[in-house]
Amino acid sequence: MKKKFIILYYSKEGNTYQLAKRFWDIFREFIPNKYDIEMMKIQEMDIESLRSSIGIIVGSPDYFNYVAGQIKIFFDEILEYKKDFKNMPAIGFITHGGGGEAVRSLQTLLEHLKFTLIKPIISVKEDKITSKIESQIQKSLMKMLKFAEDADD
Ligand SMILES: Cc1cc2nc3c(=O)[nH]c(=O)nc-3n(C[C@H](O)[C@H](O)[C@H](O)COP(=O)(O)O)c2cc1C
Repeated sequence: MKKKFIILYYSKEGNTYQLAKRFWDIFREFIPNKYDIEMMKIQEMDIESLRSSIGIIVGSPDYFNYVAGQIKIFFDEILEYKKDFKNMPAIGFITHGGGGEAVRSLQTLLEHLKFTLIKPIISVKEDKITSKIESQIQKSLMKMLKFAEDADD
């Protein structure tokens, strides 16, 4: 079975889904054939999928200056398995309505659980995915791939 990266997201109105999809499209352009990318709603995530992946990309809307409750529940649930994914590379992204403070909570959660965070957390207002954001996405994904390939050697 191919090793895989997972794009995990929560989206109610579609903005965060669109951004997740953009990560998928950009990654598809250069990911080596030996790896897969899967997109998954955070509510569908289970610990086995997480264990079997070599990198995660987690996206949330900004809700009240924090990540959405569904994302927080995910982190609450995986805390006890922390040692299984220690140092796994992770990228975080949020969409927001003009504030974007949720970046901090996502960063704190990923670091607390000992993922290797590829900074910065990518932050987009609603559905405004600019070309600057796209190059940031590409840069972060390339770093993640390099990290995973080095660990795979
Ligand atoms: C309950 C709720 C709370 C929100 N709180 C914030 C907030 O604190 N700061 C902010 O910038 N945007 C806030 N927003 C706007 C959303 O973060 C923004 O519209 C986001 O892109 C929605 O993502 P989605 O389309 O994937 O559901 C809030 C939206 C909702 C529905």
